[in-house]
Amino acid sequence: MSTVLIIDDDPSVLKLLDFAMSKAGFRVVLAGDGEEGLEKAQANPPDLAIVDVMMPGLDGYEVCRRLRADPRTAGMAIIVLTARAQAVDRKVALEAGADEYLVKPIMPDELIRLAREVLARPRAAAPLVELPQGRVVTVFSLRGGIGVTSLAVNLAVAFAHLRQEEVSLLDLSLLAGHVALMLNLQPQLTLANLLEQGSEAEEETLDRCLARHSSGVRVLAAPPQPVTSASGGGQVVKRIVSLLRGRFPYVVADTASTLDEVTTAVLTASDLVLVIVAAEVQALQTAIVSLPALRALGHEDDDLWLVLNQYTPKSPLPTQAAEKALRRPVRATIPYEPALPQAIQRGVPLILHQPTSPMATAVARLAYQIDKHFEK
Ligand SMILES: Nc1ncnc2c1ncn2[C@@H]1O[C@H](COP(=O)(O)OP(=O)(O)OP(=O)(O)O)[C@@H](O)[C@H]1O
Ligand SMILES: [Mg+2]
Repeated sequence: MSTVLIIDDDPSVLKLLDFAMSKAGFRVVLAGDGEEGLEKAQANPPDLAIVDVMMPGLDGYEVCRRLRADPRTAGMAIIVLTARAQAVDRKVALEAGADEYLVKPIMPDELIRLAREVLARPRAAAPLVELPQGRVVTVFSLRGGIGVTSLAVNLAVAFAHLRQEEVSLLDLSLLAGHVALMLNLQPQLTLANLLEQGSEAEEETLDRCLARHSSGVRVLAAPPQPVTSASGGGQVVKRIVSLLRGRFPYVVADTASTLDEVTTAVLTASDLVLVIVAAEVQALQTAIVSLPALRALGHEDDDLWLVLNQYTPKSPLPTQAAEKALRRPVRATIPYEPALPQAIQRGVPLILHQPTSPMATAVARLAYQIDKHFEK
């Protein structure tokens, strides 16, 4: 059963369409203005939105634009309703993101026919431009236990969802990686097998080492036993990353809190480094000393993004204090999420376990922000 969200400030229109569309077999959700409509769409994305144009507050075009700009709702069908007095041409409606428009007064039968037709059309997976080469996004912090792995895992799932295609996720912790655990995967082959092969590692072997997660994330898991000396590991990682970026739109790397050969190799190859900090002095001090090291690997300020994790309104340092200490903006703030440990324990990424939780929403927004950054 398709769900349709009807957004109109006229209660009589809501009543009429609720009756007609429910009778026609749709599950109907009603909203009396644009704000309410957006909230309902984001909390539970419907298959179709029917949006009135003239409404107090956000008008229907703005609602369309915001629905298209949000990865959670970007792919849904939208029909715009206009009053005859402000009948627009098709172009304006389509430019705002609508699939179709209808002029009021609405004949319910006509609307139902159009709704079915629009829903039957093949939908673009993601209304985003194609990336020419996969982008390498590394999640990093020299301070351990701060949420690097949790963010890398959830970000990879968010990218797969956003682009509607497979992305890859590398666990480069040589001592004790937790990516496979967080995704409930038990891969037979891991980074250890590739390190054994050295920098001549075959693409075919790499393919066999990539475990499949149902979200569309292909995982290269960390070695099952600690690897204490990986001489030549940097070259292997360089090769892995270059093979993967030719195949996937995103390569997300989870790193250990060190600057060993392997970590340095992936940091050097990265298009974007997310430097994770927490609102506490130790984490800030660690980030302050990390930034020059990252710049020394060839990174500009624009590809070193500060991400503040585990933030609560009670955190001892507000965001502004972190920005002042680090002399750069915080690009994303990820809230403290009480449900995260349970998601980890179950081996289900939070973004799938509780997709509407504040942390999941913040990670989805970050993925979208990164995708937009690369589009430029
Ligand atoms: N936003 C958050 N809200 C609540 N708990 C969090 C958050 N981020 C991380 N944690 C918790 O912090 C702990 C460490 O997380 P994680 O393993 O992702 O960190 P890490 O930086 O990769 O650690 P390591 O240095 O061991 O690799 C986990 O128990 C996780 O539940
Ligand atoms: Mg980790």
